[in-house]
Amino acid sequence: MKIIGFTASPRKQGNTAWVINKILESAKEQGGETESWYISDLDIKPCLSCYGCRKGDKGCIINDDMQKLYNTIETADALILGSPVYMGQMSAQAKTFTDRLFASKQFSPRFSPHFKETNTTKKKLILVFTQGNPDPGMFQVYFEYTKKMFQMLNFDVKEVVVVTGMRSESAHEQKGLQAGMNELGSKLILE
Ligand SMILES: Cc1cc2nc3c(=O)[nH]c(=O)nc-3n(C[C@H](O)[C@H](O)[C@H](O)COP(=O)(O)O)c2cc1C
Repeated sequence: MKIIGFTASPRKQGNTAWVINKILESAKEQGGETESWYISDLDIKPCLSCYGCRKGDKGCIINDDMQKLYNTIETADALILGSPVYMGQMSAQAKTFTDRLFASKQFSPRFSPHFKETNTTKKKLILVFTQGNPDPGMFQVYFEYTKKMFQMLNFDVKEVVVVTGMRSESAHEQKGLQAGMNELGSKLILE
C-alpha cells in the first residue's frame, strides 16, 4: 500500500509536518510504502481555468511540478494532506494544490466529463489541520465543508485530524498526540 504525505506549510519542522510524519512513520512500520512532499519546495502554479484538461486527454497543460505529483498520486492508495489553519481556512499552498486536482480524471466526478466511476478505486484521504486557537470547535464548520468537498472529488475521507492550541505548545509537546497519530497510521494500513 502506497501512502503519500503532502505538507502545505512553509515550516518544514513545524506542527503540520510533525503530525504527517508521525502518521507516515507508523504506516511504514506496518509495511506501507511511504512518500513525503513539502508543497512549498515545489513550483505549483494556480489553476488557469483554461479548461485545457477538459479538451483532450493530456490532463493539465501547466508544465510545473504538479505534473510529478499527478504521476505519483496515480500510483497511491492513500494521501495525507496537511495544512496549518490560516485565517480560518487551509493555507494558500494547500488550496493551490487542491485546485489543481481539478485536472485529474480520478478526482473530479462532479466536474469531469472524462471521469468514469468504474475505472477507479477511491483513494483514502486523511486531512490534517493544525491551528493556534485552543478551541477544537472554532473552525469545525470549515473542516466539515472541506471534508465534503474532498468526498465530492471522489476521495474516501478516513479522518479529519484537528490539532489545536499551537499558540501555547507545539504538536510534539502535546501529550498523547504521537500515540494517536501512530494508531491512525496503522489503521490506514490494516483497515
Ligand atoms: C498567516 C497565518 C494565519 C493564521 N491564522 C490562524 C487562524 O485563523 N486560526 C488559528 O487558530 N491559527 C492561525 N494561525 C496559526 C497556525 O495555524 C498554527 O500556528 C499552525 O500550527 C502552524 O502550522 P505549522 O507549524 O505547520 O506551520 C495562523 C498562522 C499564520 C502564519
